[in-house]
This record gives sequence, structure tokens and C-alpha cells, in this order.
Amino acid sequence: MKRTLPKVAQEVLKILKKDRTRFYSTRELSTYFDVSPYGIHQAANELRDWGYVIEEGKGKSYRLKDLPDVLLPHDISENLHTRVVGKEIHAYKALKSTNELAYRLAREDAPEGTLVISDHQTKGKGRMGRGWLSPPKVGLWLSLVLRPPIPPARAPAISVCTGLALASSVREMTQLDARIKWPNDCVIQGKKVAGVLLELSAELDKIDFVILGVGINVNQDKQAFPKSLVKKATSLKMELGEEVDRLKLLKLFLENFEKVYSEFLQNGLERLRRDINGLSSLLGKEIKVRFGKKTLKGEAKDINEDGGLIIRTKQGEKVISAGEVALL
Ligand code: BTN
Repeated sequence: MKRTLPKVAQEVLKILKKDRTRFYSTRELSTYFDVSPYGIHQAANELRDWGYVIEEGKGKSYRLKDLPDVLLPHDISENLHTRVVGKEIHAYKALKSTNELAYRLAREDAPEGTLVISDHQTKGKGRMGRGWLSPPKVGLWLSLVLRPPIPPARAPAISVCTGLALASSVREMTQLDARIKWPNDCVIQGKKVAGVLLELSAELDKIDFVILGVGINVNQDKQAFPKSLVKKATSLKMELGEEVDRLKLLKLFLENFEKVYSEFLQNGLERLRRDINGLSSLLGKEIKVRFGKKTLKGEAKDINEDGGLIIRTKQGEKVISAGEVALL
């Protein structure tokens, strides 16, 4: 069920958030906007329904004691410094897959930048037809609807841009050494902390829309991962030793993504390339790439203008636009 907090409750919340140590009287709250004391009382109850802990003090006054541990649209849009990304938000407690819903919304003309986010995915999708574990309240599971005016062949560059926005956001927020593992995984000490799934609806020469799915493992403990993944996957909490504020990280990612994406739409990867290579976990290393039934070995050299990986092999330089990479 899509959730929207009623306007009065949103306004009351804004005021209560200003100072969480003090009680605001009903009279004071109702002077901020034209609402009856009963309206304020109702708003407090609505906020409680959404999981906010609202304490009642003397003479019908209210204080915000705690925030709910879920991602809500009004919290996401508050102080979000973007022009397009996340301007329309569809937030859910649980969904099968945010990519799946975003795809449906895009077909119904959802605008560029529409964000679909869910606290839990029951059937999260990963690359290569795999699943993506998305337990409740510990990660960021989101999709963006994009409508880039570029030919489909250039779409993989958007994945690479997303990898850059992810690694930069994680570094900025945690100071951990997050890196981009081409094409778009975000890794810490070689373990995957975030992944990107790009789905396309296009004609031969024109993209109709792109669904950019992003999964970030934020606050999982080791036990949240099955044995088969423990060596390959990690969460920010596991690396940092403390919980990370999901809302803050989400906003940072949305802002960083918008910057990188608009730079890409204006100038291609030309200027971004230096940053991408600077944060690459592969550059200069001997790697093995599997694409389809083929395997290629060589040294990771650079990325080209479409985000393809340039590899120096014994047979000369080769470029691949998709595949699974492993360090040798
Ligand atoms: C990968 O395999 O590396 C890509 C994982 C992408 C997972 C995200 S979570 C949000 C979005 N919705 C999905 O169903 N998948 C993507």
C-alpha cells in the first residue's frame, strides 16, 4: 500500500522535529497554521500510526521522542537537494520488487526521476536472472525511472555512473574504502556492498525508459547472509562496526546520482572517467571476464565513452560492454 502522511500531520511533524527536547503546546502548534486543537490531536495520532513516538505532556502538549525506523516520503523529500531525482516518491513497507513496480509506473508515464522505494522486497531481482536478498529495514532497496535521450547502446554507461555515485556516497558517509567493481558493483575490500540492475524499454535507436534498480546492504549483521554469500557480500554496518543512517545515505546517493547523471547527459563520460577510474577496484589489475560463454583474460586498462571496459589481452586491446569480472 502506498503511503502518504496527511498535510497537517506533516506540518506538525516539521515543527516537532525542530526541537526534540521540548514539548509544544496544542495552542502553539495550532497558531502555526489554521487548525483546531482537535486537528492537532488527530495529527499526533496519525503520526503515532506511522510509528513516530509522540509523547504527551502537561496540558495537551506534544514532543517527538523517536522516529520510526522506516523510510517515509515526507522524510525523504525534506531537504533533498535535487531538481528531478526523487521529486515523485512511491514508498512502501513491502513490495515484490521496486524494479517491477517502477517499470509499471514508467509504462503509465511516470516522470523522469520517479523514485520507488521499499523497506522490504519479497522477490528482489539481481543481475543475470538471480535474486537479491532484501530483508526489512536494513537496506536501501530502490528504483528510479529515467528517460535519457540517448541510444540504447549507450545505456550501460548509466550503470557505470551509478557505480560512481554509490562508491562516492558510501565513502562520504562512512569513510570506508568503497570502490567500483566494473560495471557497477560497489565493493569494500573486494566484498559486494551494493549492486545495480538496469532494465530497459527501448526501440532500436531510442530509449523509452530505463529502470535503474539499486540495492545497498546497509545494516545487516553477518547472520543475515546465507553461508554461500558470506565471503562475497557485506554490509556497511559489518564493515564499520556501527549502524548507518539509511535516510541520510539515501539522500546523499540521490543527490550524488543526479549530479553524475546530468554530467553524463551533458558531456558523456569524458570528465567522469577520471573519477570512475580513480575509484575502480580493477584498474591495472589482471582480471578474468566472463560474458556469455566466452572468457577473456588481461589487464583492466580503462573505460571507453560508453562505459565499456578496455582490457589489454595477449591479442591486443578488447572492449567488453557487459560481463562478470573476477580478479586473477
Ligand atoms: C545485482 O545483482 O548486483 C543487482 C542487484 C539490484 C538489486 C536492486 S534492490 C532494488 C531494485 N529492485 C530489484 O528487484 N532489484 C534492484
